Amino acid sequence: MKTYHIAVIPGDGIGKEVVPAALNVLHTVAEVHGGINFETKEFPWSCEYYLEHGKMMDDDGLEILKNFDAIFLGAVGNPAIVPDHVSLWGLLIKIRREFEQSINIRPAKLFKGLTSPLANPRDFDLLVVRENSEGEYSESGGRIHKGEDEIAIQNAIFTKKGTERAMRYAFEVAKTRKGHVTSATKSNGIVHSMPFWDEVFNEVKQEYPEIETSVNHIDALAAFFVSKPQTFDVIVASNLFGDILTDIGGAIMGSIGIAPAGNINTNGKYPSMFEPVHGSAPDIYGKGIANPIGQIWTAKMMLDHLGEVEMGEKLLAVVEEVTASGIKTPDIGGNSTTNEVAEEICNRLKQ
Ligand code: NAD
Ligand code: IPM
Ligand code: MN
Repeated sequence: MKTYHIAVIPGDGIGKEVVPAALNVLHTVAEVHGGINFETKEFPWSCEYYLEHGKMMDDDGLEILKNFDAIFLGAVGNPAIVPDHVSLWGLLIKIRREFEQSINIRPAKLFKGLTSPLANPRDFDLLVVRENSEGEYSESGGRIHKGEDEIAIQNAIFTKKGTERAMRYAFEVAKTRKGHVTSATKSNGIVHSMPFWDEVFNEVKQEYPEIETSVNHIDALAAFFVSKPQTFDVIVASNLFGDILTDIGGAIMGSIGIAPAGNINTNGKYPSMFEPVHGSAPDIYGKGIANPIGQIWTAKMMLDHLGEVEMGEKLLAVVEEVTASGIKTPDIGGNSTTNEVAEEICNRLKQ
C-alpha cells in the first residue's frame, strides 16, 4: 500500500464545505483504485483561528507543513472579521512564498454538461501559467505623507530568474499540449517591467524553436478570452494578470466555482499546494450550495502532481458525467447541494 501524506487546510467560508466534500471523493477514488491511501491531517488555520490566537497559523506551521507530500487548501478570507491583507498574507501568500511555489497553473476548458455563458464557446482548452512569487504582489512599497498629500507606493518587482522560470515552465508544458505559448504583456503602458517581460520572453522562446508563440496586451487578451478562447493553448502571465485572467477562465467555463489551481514548487525543496481559483464566497457560505467541482478538480491536479495520472483522469471523467447528468449546484443551473454532487461522484466511482 502506497501512502501519501496530505496536509489539509479548509480555511474560511465555503472552504469548510467544499474541502470535506472533495476529500470524500479523494478517499473514494483511492479506495476504488486500490493500493493507494491518503493520510490526511487537518489544520484549523483561518480567520477564526486568528481571532483566537492572534495569528493565522502556528509559529512552527511551515516546519510542520514541510513534511507533507502536498497541501490541500480550500480558501482563506473573512473580511468581516479580519482584513484580507492580514489573513491572506498570514497564511495563503505566506505558504506560496516560503515554500517557493513560484508557478501557479490554472486550466480552463469546455466542460461536459456545463453551459458556458459564451454564445459560441467552441472547444476551448487552455492553461494559464501564472508567475506566483513576485511581480505586482511584491512587499516593496509603503505609504508616505498624511492627509491630502498621502501617497501609496506599490513596487512591482520582476527578477530575471523569476520571469525566466515562469516562461520556461510555460514552454515546457506547451510541449505536452498543443505547442503554443501566448505572452500576456502590457509593454505599451507599463514602462519598466513589461518591456523587460517582453525581452525575457523573446530570449526564452529561442530555446524552444518547435513552440509557436504570440504576444497580446493583457487588455486585449482579456477580451479574447471571451471572444475566442479556443485560439489559446498556454498563456504565461505575471502574478496579477494571471490572477485576473483565471477568474475569466472560470467564468467562461460556466462558474468560477469550477476552476482549479496548483501552486507548484519547482525546485523540489518544499511541497506544492493545491487550492481552487475561487475564494471563500461569504455570500453563499452556510447554505450548502457551494460548487465542489473546483475543489475536486483541484484534487485531480494534486493526483497528477503526485504521479497518479490515471486516477486523476478517471476522477475527472466521472465529474463530467455527473455534471452532464444534471446533478449540479445552483451556480451552474442545478438545484443540488454541495454534498449531493460529491456523493453522486462517489457513487459513480464505486460502480
Ligand atoms: P469569491 O471567489 O469568494 O466569490 C466571488 C463570487 O463567486 C461570489 O458570488 C461567490 O458566491 C461565487 N463563488 C465562488 N466560489 C463558488 C463556488 N465554489 N460555488 C458557487 N459560487 C461560488 O471572491 P470574493 O468574493 O472576491 O472573495 C471572498 C473572500 O475570499 C475574500 O476574503 C477574498 O480575499 C478571498 N479569496 C481567497 C482566495 C483563496 O484563498 N485562494 C481566492 C479568492 C478570494
Ligand atoms: C487567488 C486569489 C489570491 C491571489 C488572493 C486571495 C490573495 O485571488 O488565488 O486567485 O490574488 O492570488
Ligand atoms: Mn484570484
